[in-house]
Amino acid sequence: MNNRRIVSGMRPTGKLHLGHFHGVLANWLELQSKYECFFFAADWHSLTTEYNNTDGIRESISDMVLDWIAFGIDPRKSVIFCQSTVHQHAELNLILSMITPVSWLERNPTYKEMQDNLAAKDLSTFGFLGYPVLMAADIILYKATRVPVGHDQLPHLEITREIARRFNYLYGEVFPEPEALLTETPKVLGLDGRKMSKSYGNAIFLSETADETRKKVMSMVTDTQRVRRSDPGDPDRCVAYSLNNVYLSEQQKEEINVACRGAQIGCVDCKKIQAEALVTALEPFRCRRAELTANPSMVDDILADGSRRAAIQASETMKHVREAIKV
Ligand code: TRP
Ligand code: SF4
Repeated sequence: MNNRRIVSGMRPTGKLHLGHFHGVLANWLELQSKYECFFFAADWHSLTTEYNNTDGIRESISDMVLDWIAFGIDPRKSVIFCQSTVHQHAELNLILSMITPVSWLERNPTYKEMQDNLAAKDLSTFGFLGYPVLMAADIILYKATRVPVGHDQLPHLEITREIARRFNYLYGEVFPEPEALLTETPKVLGLDGRKMSKSYGNAIFLSETADETRKKVMSMVTDTQRVRRSDPGDPDRCVAYSLNNVYLSEQQKEEINVACRGAQIGCVDCKKIQAEALVTALEPFRCRRAELTANPSMVDDILADGSRRAAIQASETMKHVREAIKV
């Protein structure tokens, strides 16, 4: 059995921002050279909350996958596909739903939490309750052994492991129990100092122009205790610096720290330096994205090929599943 196979999905939320870049994507990039990776757009998972608002989903998939590829997720190394084009995800979801106790799903902490957070939506559906079952299907369909996830997804992964164990107990050993590859993702702050998120309107997108990015950096909150230009500041309290310091050279960081603490530089000038560092770092990504956008069928071709490769593994697993359950 292949013990170095990774599966991970992302719900298509459209264009990606720096939060994704520092979190999930940087991690995927590293994993793809060490493991056999399957990365997919989890569009059926989007349906669990967006069932009454499906217009943008298809476009979101292209936008998101374009960002992945421009960022360096490489279709020659990894299998990149869309969940809904590999129907075995649905087939296995159905079978797993037969053996999953409802109580496991009801006690899933994200179930109640999401219902409360999205109170305006009616989430008392069968599909929403079954979110972790579909996720289990996504993962064990490829007999994955590791799943890179953030803390928020750990309860789901635990349910995946329980479902795999229960299947093996009932029908014989078919699935490995996948382990979480916990990714310590740095909390990326948005323009206003809250967590970067598209829904807060405080995000810097990978797909925007250099000038748009510059403008956003200039609008970022700095050290709020530094009221006047003559007040000394503290980069550790500065939202802009917390986002941008990873793009600065050691020397620039040193200079900014000294100048900020000594009130020798104004925040406007300082943020200009930060913005240039960020824009320069994003430049190669922007070029690649522009090339890809100029050739729109490219993403479609990559997804079609990925779907074909994923389906080969998926149908093989389903053969084992049918043999095991004798149906
Ligand atoms: N639930 C995950 C999220 O919201 C997305 C997802 C769906 C996923 N299927 C998966 C992640 C399988 C890892 C493996 O982020
Ligand atoms: Fe932030 Fe620079 Fe202003 Fe200091 S000088 S508070 S680091 S923007």
